[in-house]
Amino acid sequence: MPQMIAGFVLALVSGSAPRPALEIEVAPAPFPFVIDGARYPVPVVFEGKVVCSGAAPEGAALTVRLEGATGSARADLGAWKAGEAKTFRLALEAPAAGVALFRIIGEAQGAATASEAWAVPRVPAHPLLRGAVAACPRFRFVQMSDLHLLDRETVSSGVKTARNLETAVDEVNALDPPPAFVVVTGDVASDVGRGYALALEILGRIRVPFVILPGNHDFLKATRAATLAYASLGLPFFYSFDVGLWHFVCLNAQPDPAKMPVAGTIDPIQLAWLESDLRAASRPAMVFVHQSPVLGELQPGHGITNGADLRRVLEASGCVRWTFCGHVHFETFIEAGGIRHISTAAVAYPSQAQGYRHYRTGTGWRLVEVDGESVRTRFKALGGAWEDDPAPDAYLSLDRMKSNPMVEYPGKPK
Ligand SMILES: [Fe+2]
Ligand SMILES: [Fe+2]
Repeated sequence: MPQMIAGFVLALVSGSAPRPALEIEVAPAPFPFVIDGARYPVPVVFEGKVVCSGAAPEGAALTVRLEGATGSARADLGAWKAGEAKTFRLALEAPAAGVALFRIIGEAQGAATASEAWAVPRVPAHPLLRGAVAACPRFRFVQMSDLHLLDRETVSSGVKTARNLETAVDEVNALDPPPAFVVVTGDVASDVGRGYALALEILGRIRVPFVILPGNHDFLKATRAATLAYASLGLPFFYSFDVGLWHFVCLNAQPDPAKMPVAGTIDPIQLAWLESDLRAASRPAMVFVHQSPVLGELQPGHGITNGADLRRVLEASGCVRWTFCGHVHFETFIEAGGIRHISTAAVAYPSQAQGYRHYRTGTGWRLVEVDGESVRTRFKALGGAWEDDPAPDAYLSLDRMKSNPMVEYPGKPK
């Protein structure tokens, strides 16, 4: 149920004309929460819509403001139009301690105001966000992607996806030495909020900290159960953390759960945060995101609609060396602008690239071994063998793929 913020009328209109009124809905659920104790602060994001009803002075300008202890943010929503709903998305940093109180104010010039205070719940930060994971220069981590969980017996593309995830978790738990952490790059669930509880139950068996980020099938915020399950992890929708010499960033390319298109989008709030986060990091960085920052240039649904904006921020930072995505359910190794971009196969079921070259398909997960600033990656086929990835200098260049999408990986074994 959308939570309604009461609107009240400031101006009376004579005669029988309906009085102007504003309502603010923070939709689809009152989700914002503050992550307590995160080493890198992330904004608290409020999203919703302002609904106008009744008459109002011609051309009255509609604005919405978010105010809190750390400042204020404002969005101009254009002119009043009775019956029209206008969406907004505003963010502020949370206060470091104490009650996280915010106020959302919608105003139509000379007509009506709606306003309500919000006390935002605090959630203890995930251990990685607290910097509580041992930080030595040599460590390894696991990336797995596209779990597509529904329920225990669901078969997708001929496999029980829950069984595949259990196999992957068993294999990760058998690693010696163990990884420092596991990152799951989206499509955790595969329906409107269903599958989350089961996914987190199975992922909860991983013996090291794991983090997740949303994919286009996750529909996070669509149901209260999925929302609460996600919030219980102590992770915001986008965040960063440090391990060893490296900075890690997890992005959310699914900002609007009501639409959930196949391709991703990084909204302006997140791009601005990313720019300042990378500026403050002053160390080499890796970025995790569900859809690839580069594959959209080869096939639109495979990437991020504003991938050019994202790439500009990543490349201008001077510190991002690698990105890891999922979504396409096959593997590519692409270099662009001095950054190496890996798409990792799914745990759930495979797919194949149409119209451009991929390196490998199948099901499995990726081990990334870090030693100082050097990085080695390998693929573990689910229930099968380890497979080598291309050497860093054998990645395909994005420019070369754009001119010849079927160009072969140099030195790839036949
Ligand atoms: Fe996806
Ligand atoms: Fe997927």
